[in-house]
Amino acid sequence: MKRDDHDNHGGEWEGMQTKAVHASREHNRTHAVSSPIWQTSTFHADSPEHFAEIATATRPAEFYTRYGNPTHRQAEATIAALEGGEAALLAASGMGAIFTAMLCDLRAGDHVVVQRNLYAGTATLVEQVLPRWGIEHTSVGQTDVAEFAEAVRPNTKLIYVETPTNPLMRITDLRAVAALGRERRITTMVDNTFATPVNQRPLELGIDVCVHSATKYLGGHIDITAGVVVGAREFVERAWKFGLVAGAVLGPFDAWLLLRGLRTLSLRVERHNHNALALARFLETHTRVERVHYPGLESHPQHGLARSQMSGFTGMLGVEVRGDFRAAEKFMGALKLGVNAASLGGYGTLVVHPAAMWGLQLTNEQRAAMSIGDNLVRVSVGLEDEVDLLKDFAQALDVLAE
Ligand SMILES: Cc1ncc(COP(=O)(O)O)c(C=O)c1O
Repeated sequence: MKRDDHDNHGGEWEGMQTKAVHASREHNRTHAVSSPIWQTSTFHADSPEHFAEIATATRPAEFYTRYGNPTHRQAEATIAALEGGEAALLAASGMGAIFTAMLCDLRAGDHVVVQRNLYAGTATLVEQVLPRWGIEHTSVGQTDVAEFAEAVRPNTKLIYVETPTNPLMRITDLRAVAALGRERRITTMVDNTFATPVNQRPLELGIDVCVHSATKYLGGHIDITAGVVVGAREFVERAWKFGLVAGAVLGPFDAWLLLRGLRTLSLRVERHNHNALALARFLETHTRVERVHYPGLESHPQHGLARSQMSGFTGMLGVEVRGDFRAAEKFMGALKLGVNAASLGGYGTLVVHPAAMWGLQLTNEQRAAMSIGDNLVRVSVGLEDEVDLLKDFAQALDVLAE
């Protein structure tokens, strides 16, 4: 089988912003500096022989868009370079990427170890879909690495983690998980959505596969849903083969919007990091705040671990205001810059009230077990100016006193 050239060409550059700008150039098949959108579902062949060649190639960029597309190749090359992986595969959403990456290697009789605290869609996949296909799982507390080791069985094929977590920003020790996976010959996979490769590069810490909801920081503009799988070329090719039948293919225009978002990833994430740290520090000293969950704060119980595997602490934080469910709603309602909306990692500040958002899915007891209090608000800190953000959060906290 012939493979399309799909190497990570960004390895020669050190800086993340240089990679973000230049890593896709090898895959720009035109002289246009901003490459065109290859808005087509199919590509014609020059001859029957050529058709046979592209129809049987691995990851052809010009055959049929479910198999690949030159616009996809550019975004994939950029993300592979940013994460330090050999190859990357786009999907139509983060869940599309997670589904494809998890299922491409699993079969009935296998066992998976996951951390208890996972994105709700991933938890549903593991807890409700995998068992129907004969794949068992064990959920463990992520802050104790010994729990992962104890959960491993002879048929364990995958250890799947997420760090930092949603919404309490807890940290999983990626080096320890990678070492366990290597020792027991188990694939390790991490959802790197919250951190982004600017702040954390799991593959460099020994993790095998990285997945993202590119809907969030990678895209960055709240205008697409997308996902990506990054890892060794061999794994990505297996994921591609499985993805062909899963069919979670990203449209070329959305791939182009993702590519456009990626161009400024490092700049944006640095600003998200800066704003979130400033806001976390401000909130932590405020009399109407009970607690702030942010790994960049010295008060975070895993601050040392976060520092050892992250170079920045993301734009995500959790804040517990003084008061009850209604106090959290009142505070959120008073914000002028923070918009109450699902999702995260976009240019503008977004806030959600987890107790309300998950009120229908989780019982009070389940929420309590997850330490998600009624007074907790999740903030995806945007790119606004620090001065305006702090002013807005200060006036919203003042409203709580009224
Ligand atoms: C950490 C994390 N992973 C995966 C997903 C799923 O991504 P998508 O909504 O793009 O399918 C989300 C969505 O919120 C998420 O927050």
